[in-house]
Amino acid sequence: MPRSFHDAQWWRGAAIYELYVRSFADASGDGTGDLAGVRARLPYLAELGIDAIWFSPWYPSPLADAGYDVADFRDIAPAFGTLAEADALIEEAHALGIRIIIDMVPNHCSDTHPWFQAALAAEPGSHERERFWFRPGRGADGSLPPNNWGSMFGGSAWTRVRNPDGSPGEWYLHLFASQQPDFNWSSNEVRKEFEDILRFWFDRGADGIRIDSAALLTKDPRLPDFGAASATAGVPTVAPGTTRAHPFIDRDDVHDIYRSWRAIAAEYGGRVLIGEIWLPDADRLARYVSPGELHTVFNFPYLSCAWDAAKLRAVIDDTLALNEPAGAPATWVLSNHDVDRHVSRYGRADTSFGLDRRDHSQPADLVLGTRRARAAALLTMALPGSVYVYQGEELGLWEVEDIPDDRREDPIWYRTSGKDPGRDGCRVPLPWSGTEPPFGFSPPGATAQPWLPQPPAWRDLTVAAESGSPSSMLTLYQHALRIRRELLGDGTMTWLPSEADVLAFEREDGIRCVANLSLIPARLPEGFGILLVSGPLTADGELPPDTVAWLRPRDPAGVLRKGR
Ligand code: NOJ
Repeated sequence: MPRSFHDAQWWRGAAIYELYVRSFADASGDGTGDLAGVRARLPYLAELGIDAIWFSPWYPSPLADAGYDVADFRDIAPAFGTLAEADALIEEAHALGIRIIIDMVPNHCSDTHPWFQAALAAEPGSHERERFWFRPGRGADGSLPPNNWGSMFGGSAWTRVRNPDGSPGEWYLHLFASQQPDFNWSSNEVRKEFEDILRFWFDRGADGIRIDSAALLTKDPRLPDFGAASATAGVPTVAPGTTRAHPFIDRDDVHDIYRSWRAIAAEYGGRVLIGEIWLPDADRLARYVSPGELHTVFNFPYLSCAWDAAKLRAVIDDTLALNEPAGAPATWVLSNHDVDRHVSRYGRADTSFGLDRRDHSQPADLVLGTRRARAAALLTMALPGSVYVYQGEELGLWEVEDIPDDRREDPIWYRTSGKDPGRDGCRVPLPWSGTEPPFGFSPPGATAQPWLPQPPAWRDLTVAAESGSPSSMLTLYQHALRIRRELLGDGTMTWLPSEADVLAFEREDGIRCVANLSLIPARLPEGFGILLVSGPLTADGELPPDTVAWLRPRDPAGVLRKGR
C-alpha cells in the first residue's frame, strides 16, 4: 500500500485514473463494461501505480449523455451491477491502496428522474416544478422559448412540455441535452437532496467527488436573454463590454454551495472535492479553491495547450500562480472522456484543443503523436501537484475518428447534425488481449459486440501486447507512476535556464525534468544520470526532439543520489 494512503491530504500529489465503466472491461459479455469487470482488473490498476480511481457516472441512466443524465443518484446502473458490488469494489480497492472518487452531477438529472417525472405531472407553479426551471414560453401562444440561451450541445436550451391533456405547456431549461433538465439551485430541497447524496457516498467509503459542470449550478432567477444566442464553454463570465454577470456561468452564489459541501467533507476527513470548471478567467477560477471551498479544480488550459514550449511554460506558471495563494495543489490532465485523445491531438498540424473545435478533418500523424504523448506524460508527471490519467492513455490509444454514423451515441453529434464529431472516439472500449476485437474487453462467448467498434489496429496496443515490453507506453506509465509516487507529486518546482524551446525545471532533491520541444537535439546537464526517458537518446547522449528525460544528480563517485 502506498505511503500516502493513510495521509488525510493524499489527494495533493495523487495520480488519479479516470475510469469510464462502460468502456473499461465487460465481465458479463453483453458488450458493455461493468463493475465485475473493474473488480477483476483492480490488480492491473494497482500494478499501474495509480492512487485513486475517479468513476465517471455509474448510476442508473438512460444514457442520453453517456451517464451524465442520472435517473437515481443513490444506485448503480443495472447494466454495471449493484450497490452491493460497488460496496465490495470500494473495499477491494482500499485494500489495494486505491482511493475511490465518485462523479457528482448536480447541475441536472435525467428526464426519467422521479423528481422530473413528478414535475411533468404537476401544475405550473407547483413545488414539484420549482425544483427545475419551468417557464411559460414567449409570444402570443407561448410557442417561443422563454429566453435565447443555447444548449452547450447545440440548439436551444429550452424544451416545451405537453400538459396532461395533450396541449402545449411550459418550457424547461436544459443547458445540455433535452433529456437533462437543470435543477433549480435556489430551491432548498435541491440543496438538501445533494447534501444527503454526498453523505450517502461518503458513508459508503467514497474518498472524494468530482463535481460535474461545477460553475453552472446557479442561474439568474430572472432568466434574462444573454449576448449571443448560444452558450459555449468559452463564454466569458461577464457580457463582453459590460460588467453584467453571466446569467448561468460562474455566478457568485455558486460558492455558497461548495462552502457547505466542504463542511460536510470536513466532517468525514480525508475526502476531496474536485471541480470540473472550464473558465477562461484564472482569477475567477481561483475563487473555487479559496479556503473553505473545493480542494482542487481541473486544469483545462493545460489540456488545451498546444505542444509548444513557450505556451506550455506560460500555462504551467499560470496554473501554479492560480493555486498558490490558496495553498491548493495544481492538477494536470492531458485527456478525458470529453476531448480528443492526445496521441491524435499531438499528431495534428494544430496541436491545441478547444471544446468548440474538435477537428477530425486534420490528419493525425500517429507516430509523431505517440512520441509526443510519451514526452507529454513525463512532462506532466514531473509537475508538482496531482495528475489525471484517462483510461487507455496508458496504452497510447488514439482518437477513433471513423466510427460509423449509425453507431455514434454522443448527443453532441446529433444536436449539431454531425458538424461536431462529438466524444465517442475517445470512449471506445479498451483492448486487453488477443489479436482482434473485442480484444478481451468482453469474455469469450460474449453475446454482443463492444458497444462502440474497436479499430483492428489496436491489436498492438492491448494490455497483453504492451505488458513487459520495454518500449511500450504501458511500461513507460508504470515506471513513471512508480518513480513519481516515490520522488515527485506534491511540492514545488524551479525553472532552470535552457536552450530555446526546451523546458527544464528542478524538483525536490535536485531531480530534474528536461523536455525538448525544439527541432534539434538538446544537451543534458553534466553530473546527472537518467531516471527515466520517454525515448532513446541520440548516439551522442543528447535528448532528441519531442523527448523528455527525468534526471537525478550523481554523487562525487558518480552514483545516482537517493531521493526522499
Ligand atoms: C461535463 C461532462 O464531463 C460531460 O461529459 C457531460 O456531457 C457534461 N458535463 C454534462 O453533464
